[in-house]
Amino acid sequence: MSSMGRARALVGLLAIVSSGIAALGCDLLPGDDDAESQPAAVTDGTLPGCDPSDGAPADLRCTGLYADFGSKTLSLRARSFAPAVAFWSDGAEKERWIDLPDGAQIDTTAMDDWKFPVGTKVWKQFRAGGKLVETRFMQKTRADRWIQGAYVWSADETTATLQTDGATVDLGGGNTYVVPKSSECNDCHKGRKDKLLGFEAVSLGQPGASGFTLAALATEGKLSAPPAQTSVTIADDGTGHAAEALAWMHVNCGTSCHTGTSTATAYGTGLRLRIGWDEISGKPPAEWEIVRSTVGIPVKSPKWAGEVRITAGDPGASVVLKLLGQRGEEQMPPIATRVVDDKGKAAVAAWIRAMPKTTFDLPIQTPTE
Ligand code: HEC
Repeated sequence: MSSMGRARALVGLLAIVSSGIAALGCDLLPGDDDAESQPAAVTDGTLPGCDPSDGAPADLRCTGLYADFGSKTLSLRARSFAPAVAFWSDGAEKERWIDLPDGAQIDTTAMDDWKFPVGTKVWKQFRAGGKLVETRFMQKTRADRWIQGAYVWSADETTATLQTDGATVDLGGGNTYVVPKSSECNDCHKGRKDKLLGFEAVSLGQPGASGFTLAALATEGKLSAPPAQTSVTIADDGTGHAAEALAWMHVNCGTSCHTGTSTATAYGTGLRLRIGWDEISGKPPAEWEIVRSTVGIPVKSPKWAGEVRITAGDPGASVVLKLLGQRGEEQMPPIATRVVDDKGKAAVAAWIRAMPKTTFDLPIQTPTE
């Protein structure tokens, strides 16, 4: 073997060894400060709480987000990304990262249902009131299994531990931040066949996306079937407000619950607020499900009998707007929020108000399912 060949073989071997360690759920990298500062704890090669298990590890440091946990130096494997429009989290600031296994591709045969390679890891980190409060983590450990959980940061922001039962964090001044239970993740995340909600073509292909965008994924060869176009925009429908309103509803209502995925929480309602790839990349908004299943369509639930999901030109007669614009017993989303997204609400209201009544002023249609 040539010296070059030997060097390659060695690099390959190191990659296998390090991915083997990562597979245990704990990246112990050479020079890792945590290992040095806690020598007594690493006698068996794992940090406390990093023992391999079938579920999410107990400590965030085991997930590999930070190469050096003490100084919060990110691992080079964690690639930052942000969907064009974020899910509203009561004003919390969020950062997101994904670690795709080396050499693996996302199966994008179905553009609306990407399948991620085993080993994929994803994080979403939240700051509320300027404080680091929570980091959510998901890892695909088998073709049919993801482990997931929320890690709550200590007040001094030095440790983050798994809280399967959720938590309420005191932000001071009478304000609190609520961390969801592990059992609640799927209320939203079962809306996609392979779990991830914001790391998807429509959200990463619009101009507001950043980091590991659809274009970057295609350029780096991460998509098994790259689309012809990697940049898409929501065409205006004559109202001047379609782009903002539809993108907001897609992320806040459509990717998770109001989608055609049969396991999704609100599948049975027939109200579809997700934008499909074929729709955004090839059809005018008037033909999208987000319009066809809302405008002029009566609400299915007996609770709102006789009312309409969205009435063109009349925000006051639009149940979708009413529910997303209030908090309490009847609110949308039904969980994980206590504050209305005023900006999102205003965008949807403006879109409805600007909709020409004549276009949709037809006899009430029956829901399309
Ligand atoms: C109320 C709905 C909801 C709940 C509950 C929820 N998520 Fe999410 N999550 C979303 C949406 C929508 C996105 C994509 C939009 C964004 O990131 O702003 C997302 C994004 C993420 C991401 C980034 C990858 C992706 O899917 O785009 C991770 C990681 C994540 N969530 C983990 C969790 C974990 C772990 C839990 C439970 C502890 C959880 N989430 C609970 C709605 C939810």
